Amino acid sequence: MSPRLEEASATLPYHVGIIMDGNGRWAKAQGKGRLEGHKKGAEVARDVVRWAKNLGVKQLSLYAFSTENWQRPKLEVRGLMSLLAILLPKTLPEMMQNNVRFCTLGDISPLPHSARKAVEQASERTKNNDGIELILCLNYGGQQEVLAATKASLQWALAQDDPNVAIENLTLSKFRDHMWCHQIAPLDLLIRTGGEMRISNFHLWDAAYAELYFSDVLWPDYSQHHLQLAIENYQRRERRYGLTSEQVTHE
Ligand code: IPE
Ligand code: IPE
Ligand code: MG
Repeated sequence: MSPRLEEASATLPYHVGIIMDGNGRWAKAQGKGRLEGHKKGAEVARDVVRWAKNLGVKQLSLYAFSTENWQRPKLEVRGLMSLLAILLPKTLPEMMQNNVRFCTLGDISPLPHSARKAVEQASERTKNNDGIELILCLNYGGQQEVLAATKASLQWALAQDDPNVAIENLTLSKFRDHMWCHQIAPLDLLIRTGGEMRISNFHLWDAAYAELYFSDVLWPDYSQHHLQLAIENYQRRERRYGLTSEQVTHE
């Protein structure tokens, strides 16, 4: 850990989310096919877990496949799913060694059997680890997550003695209990690589007060140094949550 990060460890982001973007452009620039970019990107995804853990991050969400990514060319989708099925079991020993708890966010039921099996095996094998939580967002969409929570909240309300009162009394915290992410902390720092400045349906609810950090670096070129820069930048931010700067400094 750099002395600077150590000094300010109180302000370390607990939950970091990364939109790992730029694999395709990286491959194109190298005269390679898109899948080569995804392969290199997957290696960096494996490494970033270790970097984040070394820097003191407790939860790391990696956006690996969005609900909209199914619309990509069939060959690319198939390649991404095979990568998951092949690389995840290979990464398991390293995850065990680094005390990584693996879990997913998103509906994994439409994934091909081999990919789903790899995901379930990794979740099961690492469930007692507590060094860092790796949340792989797979077939994940923030809007879909909010819709699912809305449906679950309504079903919960309909099962109460007076559904109207239950709906009337529904709080933000009660609603969040019905979200897929209910066991994960809200996002503190949201990083997007690849130069685009958009959320692309990543954690919508939980990014409400996340600090946003955009990097032009294409994901396959991302390094520990880049992650450290993002965290140091985060540590210089003042998170006000709607208050005034004076209120925040005095409290
Ligand atoms: C991100 O890289 C990886 C996935 C979405 C699976 P892209 O494949 O979106 O890379 P670009 O944006 O085309 O460069
Ligand atoms: C977001 O990247 C999804 C992932 C990184 C998995 P995209 O490349 O799919 O997003 P858009 O299409 O540029 O918004
Ligand atoms: Mg992209």
